Amino acid sequence: MQSQIEKLKSGMLADLKVAKSDQAVKNVEVKYLGRQGLFNEIMKSLKDLSDDEKRTVGKLANETKKELEAAIQNRYKGLEHEMLGSIAEEEWIDVTVPGKKPVVGHRHLISKFIDDVEQVFAKMGFEMAEGPEVEKESYNFDHLNIPEDHPARDMHDTFWIKNLEKYVLRTHTSPVQIHYMEAHKPPIRVIAQGKTFRKDSDATHSPMFHQLEGLMVDENISMANLKAVMTQALQQIFEDESIKTRFRVSYFPFVEPGMEVDCTCPICRGNQKTADGVPCRLCKEVGWLEIAGAGMVHPDVLKKVGYDPEKYTGFAFGMGLDRMVMIKYRINHLRLFFENDLRFIQQF
Ligand code: FA5
Repeated sequence: MQSQIEKLKSGMLADLKVAKSDQAVKNVEVKYLGRQGLFNEIMKSLKDLSDDEKRTVGKLANETKKELEAAIQNRYKGLEHEMLGSIAEEEWIDVTVPGKKPVVGHRHLISKFIDDVEQVFAKMGFEMAEGPEVEKESYNFDHLNIPEDHPARDMHDTFWIKNLEKYVLRTHTSPVQIHYMEAHKPPIRVIAQGKTFRKDSDATHSPMFHQLEGLMVDENISMANLKAVMTQALQQIFEDESIKTRFRVSYFPFVEPGMEVDCTCPICRGNQKTADGVPCRLCKEVGWLEIAGAGMVHPDVLKKVGYDPEKYTGFAFGMGLDRMVMIKYRINHLRLFFENDLRFIQQF
């Protein structure tokens, strides 16, 4: 019987060694030391022994049982250690490693430029207005004196909205003039910037581009005010007080007279050649750059929004912002703004 106890002991210790989870240890415990376990099976035959043998075998059995119970508890503890050890192994953190610097982005050059331009006009007392990019045909054209069949519509290469009759992607920011005048009474001094859209694409034309509209309406507003505002604004935008402006007669149906505004080239300063005598490439030796369309608000446009053209006059202008950014930062292709190539974007 003693040998049976020894055999049971070595059997249980071997089973414990390969028990790799709490549940497996529990199973070994039940198999050997449980109420129906192998140890109790052996103990049942104790009654058949002589008193002497009972004493020796009983003592051995008690000691062995205690030993085995201790072995079970040790195995539980061992498993816990192994688990903590593997956590430490797999999930360790080296707190001395320097942190990863998050990549911080910055505003796109065009957004930054638009903010700067808004600041320039804000200092001159202009408020900001905005209008929808998906615009009613009537606001984009009719209210601006461009009725259907008017040849000026052809110049706008319009994107029409499918399944939404009489809506377009606005081709210019001029419709904001109408929205603003309908909602406000003079005096008006407002600018509106935003995206505009035309079916157009080459080095200086993009299907989506940005314009800045300006509108000033009050009693006694004249061309002199337009010239003063444009000249001041362009000098500040290009950060060059030597900039001069000139106004060439042009045609926009919603202004009368209409004109193109040019400013002296910021590189050659109107001299057509750079300081080193090299022909100026930016203005192609013209000395002037076209910046905006402008004019005095047409009396019919004023009438349509309920203003008395005998009492009020005003000027309006529309600048192509992307081309101004190209001029200021010497960028030779519009596409660079919209390709999202970080090598370009990060330069500014
Ligand atoms: C207009 O859009 C008029 N609404 C401007 C205006 C406003 C005139 C108020 C009178 C009074 P125009 O079509 O010329 O005008 O466009 C104005 C400017 O937008 C151009 O000088 C040019 O700088 C820019 N522009 C026009 N089409 C594109 C294009 N496809 N890509 C980039 N810039 C463009």
